[in-house]
Amino acid sequence: MTAEEIIARGVPEHVAIIMDGNGRWARNRGLPRTSGHKEGLTSAKKIVAAASKLGIKYITLYTFSTENWKRAQEEVGYLMGLIKGHLRAEFEFYKKNGIKVEHIGDLTGLPADVRNEIINAKKDTEHFIGTTCVLAINYGSRDEIVRCIKKLVNSGETAENINEELISKSLDIPSLPPVDLMIRTGGEERLSNFLLWQCAYAEFLFTDTLWPDYNEEEFFENISKYQTRNRRFGGVPNQ
Ligand code: IPE
Ligand code: IPE
Ligand code: MG
Repeated sequence: MTAEEIIARGVPEHVAIIMDGNGRWARNRGLPRTSGHKEGLTSAKKIVAAASKLGIKYITLYTFSTENWKRAQEEVGYLMGLIKGHLRAEFEFYKKNGIKVEHIGDLTGLPADVRNEIINAKKDTEHFIGTTCVLAINYGSRDEIVRCIKKLVNSGETAENINEELISKSLDIPSLPPVDLMIRTGGEERLSNFLLWQCAYAEFLFTDTLWPDYNEEEFFENISKYQTRNRRFGGVPNQ
């Protein structure tokens, strides 16, 4: 299906992706896991550009989880370097596509240099009005919810005032809409602590494709599959 055909049928407002399978992609080629991450970054750029082409408002990418610190120091260090280098070098990519960079996750738990690149990328792209690319770095959904509750308690919020809207607005990005479509590559069918609150009514698509092999064509296929889903939100259609 072409971009024009997909756009005509109405695109999801918020797509989230668990970019999984980099390590296996590398192992299959006898390469170190880090090569898989390097190749995965190329895929991520292609998919962000594809989302922008379709006019998708928000694309959230699971880049580094709060649990990923358990990995070997060498791999963690490589990933941090990759994130930092990308954010520093890719302003032109974001500018060309009018992409605004946002971040979810615990900034305070990141190395200072990575934290600063995230802050700079957000600032440099804040006036772009195309797709918002939300990078989940040092992100865990439970951690986000705990930090949200702390914010509410610290601001003296009363129990009577607490409702779903206030909680949504107190998460890392107040204006982030609920996820419409969650895609996970790499064959696993789980959320791995990603966007638990925001996925309450998301549609899910799982593909065995390893993230470095995922491309615009499959992304377009996934979006068109989403467009055939019947979202009921607990109601009864045509009543
Ligand atoms: C996903 O790929 C990228 C990150 C978690 C940073 P993996 O590194 O988890 O790849 P597999 O699952 O081991 O193949
Ligand atoms: C989820 O993938 C995290 C990212 C893609 C950044 P993992 O590979 O870490 O998840 P599990 O361990 O298979 O659940
Ligand atoms: Mg994995």
